[in-house]
Amino acid sequence: MGYDHINRGTYERKRLVERYTYLPLQIAEVMFLVKYRDEYVDKNVLDIGCGAGRTTAYMRHWAKDYTCIDYSEGMTDHCKRRFDGIRCLCCDVRDMSAFRDQEFDFVLFANNGLDSLDHDDRIKGLLEVRRVLKDGGIFIFSSHNRSYRHCRSEPKLEFALDPAAMFRKVTLHRRRCRNRQKNRIFERDEEKFSIINDSSHLYSLITYYVDQRTQAEQLREQDFEPMEVYDWAGNSLGLHGDDQESSWLYYVARKLGQNGRAATP
Ligand SMILES: C[S@@+](CC[C@H](N)C(=O)[O-])C[C@H]1O[C@@H](n2cnc3c(N)ncnc32)[C@H](O)[C@@H]1O
Repeated sequence: MGYDHINRGTYERKRLVERYTYLPLQIAEVMFLVKYRDEYVDKNVLDIGCGAGRTTAYMRHWAKDYTCIDYSEGMTDHCKRRFDGIRCLCCDVRDMSAFRDQEFDFVLFANNGLDSLDHDDRIKGLLEVRRVLKDGGIFIFSSHNRSYRHCRSEPKLEFALDPAAMFRKVTLHRRRCRNRQKNRIFERDEEKFSIINDSSHLYSLITYYVDQRTQAEQLREQDFEPMEVYDWAGNSLGLHGDDQESSWLYYVARKLGQNGRAATP
């Protein structure tokens, strides 16, 4: 049995939608948005897994045409209410038939949304990104890092002196333990990736983890040229930096043209 419905259910939860609403840009995002500004300013931009619109708040002003999608109706409904007149669709990265081939100059899939999918669906998603992106266009996304030293954990009860605070901690701990017990069966280690029920959202997500070298290989297999990797703190690691301290990594890749070369942008 797959776990797609579990991750999807988590992202439909009203509380989570609210939680994602006012988060700021991450440092890595600021770094690559400054560096690659010519790739999206006044261009056609697709923002995948937009959530409650964290990146929409910025990208919609800079793009010529800005479109955002998310497979959670809760997220897209919220995003549409928040940004009047926005082109925001409830749509899954695995099937973006709503869009033409090569419709976009720049595609973003921020904050690890791609990691909600199991391996075959991830490849399906990458192929769809490739299809809707122009030759020479840029794809930036983040993914959990299998080399991160703390990627596996078990729920731990925290302590507080204040009884009310302690009560809240116990309640949360119980929820963490319940989710962990339910979701750990989906964990597996493959040669090139791991599926891990990590601590995010009280252990309610099942997440794809891959190391930097393998992710670069996976991109090349789908005719993208990996260009750069950023760690969580916004350092550019080139393609081979030490990344054990970074729970996820941002990848910048260019879509190769028909002849296997990066078209002149
Ligand atoms: C961690 S949240 C990040 C949301 C937003 N990008 C942000 O940074 O605040 C990941 C988002 O990806 C979306 N997502 C996951 N799998 C998806 C898929 N297959 N197609 C479209 N969206 C997806 C989820 O619904 C969720 O809103």
